[in-house]
Amino acid sequence: MEYKNLKNYFKNLSIDNKNLKRDITFLIKDLPEDISSYQKTKLKKQLKELIQGTPLAYVMGYTEFLNCKIFVSSKTLIPRPETELLCDMVLNNIKTSQERPKILDLCSGSGCVGVAIQKATNLSVDAVEISDDAIKIIKKNIKQNGVKIKVIKSDMFEKVAKKYDLIISNPPYIKKADIKTLDNSVKDFEPHLALDGGDDGLKFYRIIANEATNHLTKNGKIALEIGYNQAKQIKKLLEKNFKDIKIVKDYFKLDRFIFATRR
Ligand SMILES: C[S@@+](CC[C@H](N)C(=O)[O-])C[C@H]1O[C@@H](n2cnc3c(N)ncnc32)[C@H](O)[C@@H]1O
Repeated sequence: MEYKNLKNYFKNLSIDNKNLKRDITFLIKDLPEDISSYQKTKLKKQLKELIQGTPLAYVMGYTEFLNCKIFVSSKTLIPRPETELLCDMVLNNIKTSQERPKILDLCSGSGCVGVAIQKATNLSVDAVEISDDAIKIIKKNIKQNGVKIKVIKSDMFEKVAKKYDLIISNPPYIKKADIKTLDNSVKDFEPHLALDGGDDGLKFYRIIANEATNHLTKNGKIALEIGYNQAKQIKKLLEKNFKDIKIVKDYFKLDRFIFATRR
């Protein structure tokens, strides 16, 4: 089939699923007119994956996050708009302050948070991640975006030696038993290591509440993404070691972020 016909063919496919149609349109929109046979084979494979329910970012191998192209693989979570909002808030704070905070991106995944913040500010940023597969992707994203980030393979703070002025984290926060209730596109495709927050979903916030102070400078701050129904419990966990605890809502008016300062 000629390329133009191929493009029209895919555009006009009688697919009921609006999202799938949108994803197919996105996938084919930037293809060159003189598509090679390699590209045709790749396109067929990608369309098959989309039709089987694979999220677009995994099919394409990348997504956009703030001003960054971020590679993803099946071993990294797909960066979410809420996490972009977290970074936006942090960046606004940095811009309005005279300070040049040293930053740790804890539970870095694809590295989206650290990469976006380093790219926008040129601040000192380290990234912690436990998964070797994710670390490969973080390194690819560092190179792709021309940023400078030290990557530390560590189980939370275990191998973290330095102190930071700001720790940002979007840790796994889904209750283990709830993972099976998530949308298929999440539970069947995204890594459970990135989702599983233990029996009550709070495993990683407990570690942050108890250990982050050892890795924060005086008046050091934390900026966390949280599950929409976890704010009260996480605030309670933080109260012993943190002050000025602020809960902030996301685009859907759900409690989604917590900011706090070390006592
Ligand atoms: C919810 S994902 C967030 C990824 C990325 N920061 C984002 O916002 O898209 C959580 C990440 O924490 C990592 N992780 C899980 N357990 C960890 C641990 N014990 N220590 C460090 N990282 C861990 C997972 O591999 C995953 O990449």
